[in-house]
Amino acid sequence: MATDFFTLKGKTAVLTGAARGLGLTFATALASANCNIAVLDILHEPSPCLLALRDHHDIKLEYYRTDITSRREVSVAIEKIEAEFGRIDINVNAAGVVTDESFLTTTDENVDHTFAVNFTGSFLVAQACANSMVARYKSVHGSKPAAQPTNGTIILIASIATYIASSAQQISCYAASKAAVKGLVKPMAMELAPYGIRVNSLSPGYMMTDMMRGLQEQQPQLVDQFERETLFGRVGIPGELKGPILYLCCASASGWYTGQDLLVDGGASTWKHPAILATA
Ligand SMILES: NC(=O)c1ccc[n+]([C@@H]2O[C@H](COP(=O)([O-])OP(=O)(O)OC[C@H]3O[C@@H](n4cnc5c(N)ncnc54)[C@H](O)[C@@H]3O)[C@@H](O)[C@H]2O)c1
Repeated sequence: MATDFFTLKGKTAVLTGAARGLGLTFATALASANCNIAVLDILHEPSPCLLALRDHHDIKLEYYRTDITSRREVSVAIEKIEAEFGRIDINVNAAGVVTDESFLTTTDENVDHTFAVNFTGSFLVAQACANSMVARYKSVHGSKPAAQPTNGTIILIASIATYIASSAQQISCYAASKAAVKGLVKPMAMELAPYGIRVNSLSPGYMMTDMMRGLQEQQPQLVDQFERETLFGRVGIPGELKGPILYLCCASASGWYTGQDLLVDGGASTWKHPAILATA
C-alpha cells in the first residue's frame, strides 16, 4: 500500500541542478519511485551517481547540459525532453548559487548572477514545464477546469534564509532571490490549478552539500555555528529531504497541498539559539 502511494511509474520529472547536491538527492528519491528523469544543469558532466540511477531503477534518464538563465537554452532542452520522454509531469527547480558578501559591499555582479540563476532560471524552467503540462491538459479536457490535482506538480526550492538570518552568513542577495522564488508559489498555484497543476516550494535548512562545503572552505566556523543552530546539534544530510520531495511530487500523498512552502530545517528556525544567547 505504502509503495503504491509513492509510485511515480510512467511519470517524467524535469529536475534542474541535479548534476550534484540536493538536486541529485531529489533525482535519487524520484528514481526510487520509478519516475523517469530529465536533468538540466550547467556542469559539463553530472555525478556518476546520477547516471547510475538509470540502470539501478530501470528508468529513462537523460542529462541536458543547459544554462537555465538562457530562455533559448531552456526552450531547446524542454522541446527535446517532450520529444524524447513524451510528457512532463513533475518539475523540481534545485539549481542555485550563493555568494557570501556583506550587504554594504554586494556587487552588481553578485546581484545579477544570483537573481539570474535562482529566480529567473527557476521562472523560465517552471514556465516552460507548465506550458507543456497545460497543453497536455487542454488536449484531453479542452477548456473544462480541473477538479483533480493530478495533471502535474511544480516544486521551487527556496531556503531557510527566507525565514531567518544567520549571523554566520552575509547572504542578503541570496535570501532576497529565494524570497522572490517563494513569491511565485501562490500566484502560480492559483493560475495553474484550473489545469490540474499544483505548485509548492520546499525550503531546506542547513544541509551538507557541495554548496555548503564551498562556503565552509571560505569560513571554517560556519558549519560549527549551523550545528549549534538546529535542535539536534548537527546540519541536515541530503537524504533527509527525500521524504519531503516524494511527498510533494506524489499527488496520491499531497494532492490537496498547493500554494505552500514546506520548511524542513531540523528546528533551526523555531528557537532562540544558545549560540546567540552566549554572545549576548
Ligand atoms: N545546501 C543547503 O544548505 C541549502 C539550504 C537551503 C537551500 N538550498 C538550495 O537548494 C538548492 C541546491 O543546493 P545545493 O546545496 O545542492 O547546491 P550545489 O551547488 O551543490 O548544486 C547546485 C547545482 O545547480 C547547478 N547550477 C548552477 N548554476 C546553474 C545554471 N546557470 N544553469 C543550470 N544549473 C546551474 C550547479 O551546477 C549545481 O549542480 C539551491 O537552490 C540552494 O539554494 C541549499
